[in-house]
Amino acid sequence: MTQTTEETKKQPDSRGLAGQVIGETSVCAVNQTQLMYRGYEIADLAAHATFEEVAHVLLVGHKPNAEELKAFSDEVASYRAIPTAVRDAIVKIAKDTPEAHPMSVLRTAVSLLSHTCDLCEDNSAEAELLKSKMLLAKIPTCIGTHQRALDGKEPVEPDTSLSHAANLLWCITGEKPHDISAKVMDVSLILYAEHDFNASTFTSRVIASTNSDMHSCVCGGIGALKGNLHGGANEAAMEMLSDIMEATSGGQTVDEYMQHAFETKKKLMGFGHRVYKNGDHRAGILRDWGLKYCEEVNPEAKAWFDLGDEVQGIMLRDKNIFPNVDFPCGMTYFAMGIPVPQYTPIFVASRITGWCAHIMEQHQNNRIIRPLAQYAGEGIRNWNDG
Ligand SMILES: CC(C)(COP(=O)(O)OP(=O)(O)OC[C@H]1O[C@@H](n2cnc3c(N)ncnc32)[C@H](O)[C@@H]1OP(=O)(O)O)[C@@H](O)C(=O)NCCC(=O)NCCS
Repeated sequence: MTQTTEETKKQPDSRGLAGQVIGETSVCAVNQTQLMYRGYEIADLAAHATFEEVAHVLLVGHKPNAEELKAFSDEVASYRAIPTAVRDAIVKIAKDTPEAHPMSVLRTAVSLLSHTCDLCEDNSAEAELLKSKMLLAKIPTCIGTHQRALDGKEPVEPDTSLSHAANLLWCITGEKPHDISAKVMDVSLILYAEHDFNASTFTSRVIASTNSDMHSCVCGGIGALKGNLHGGANEAAMEMLSDIMEATSGGQTVDEYMQHAFETKKKLMGFGHRVYKNGDHRAGILRDWGLKYCEEVNPEAKAWFDLGDEVQGIMLRDKNIFPNVDFPCGMTYFAMGIPVPQYTPIFVASRITGWCAHIMEQHQNNRIIRPLAQYAGEGIRNWNDG
């Protein structure tokens, strides 16, 4: 029976699997009011844990005691160096095609890492935990190698004495970060680490479900995260704010810019969420840390937060749409002097923990992910009919 236009309108929009539960996980819970990693609320983790502790919770499955944490952190740090062939390839890409997006370069780097990993084809729980730690350790080195080559500089050796967050900043800048920089980065990595069946994690799980290897799953995850409706939104949000800043210095008001965006159906980057319709818990936490960073290190950068507040106010007033974590992230990383195209790769340096936890969970209780499609094409016809 064909539906009337009125009936079609009344149905919820289920495109993009909206509102559909498509599997189980013990890694994370996301709902309108809560985000928990293995039962720990995100605000609790951001206030009291370190990124290494969170990585242990996600990958190993429980909160580490002091001894377990030291063993885990030391082991991960010991894997930070990358093979010369991978380093040389990243440097060559930066020299030959500096316009290549760092997410594409990181995807290639992870793919290359698979060729030098003896455990690549081993999907046992033991091998996958080890590969997770190695990927976690090596991704910041890949990011830093690429950025430094783009800056015309030699890569620095990763520093095993630094935390994951501090070492990430060291690899990118070649300077030992202030305590506050390392802390703000650490919190942002905690907030980015995991988010149940988001697009990139789901992609990783689909690949895992075919019995493919962890590096292939992560390459797929990086590809999905790159898009500006997902992880790429942290870069897009900052680019949009720069655009608004430029428009206002040319005489346009923020309100005029926004009304034009609404009229032309332009998406405002860093706003909205499939699940959080009343706000993203992570956004306020990162905004506070970003402002603290400005206060202590870069007071001029507060202007971006003031502009962000104005944009946020108009979005709420006119559309009732809240900012997501990518909105304050863009401003925070900008205040920290991080090049905009590295924002999403930094997201990878954190989300690798969530992806790997899900890949392991998928492999440990696997059935191939193969849903059905509703056919909406031509009726049956004969090839010889014309
Ligand atoms: C995150 C996102 C992809 C969720 O998509 P979604 O679940 O399909 O979106 P919704 O169903 O909630 O959208 C409802 C309405 O709000 C609008 N909307 C949602 N986010 C919007 C935004 N950032 N700017 C302008 N309008 C937006 C939609 O266009 C839609 O309007 P319509 O009913 O007139 O078509 C979407 O909000 C978006 O594109 N945001 C910008 C990119 C971003 O920040 N991504 C990072 C997510 S963490």
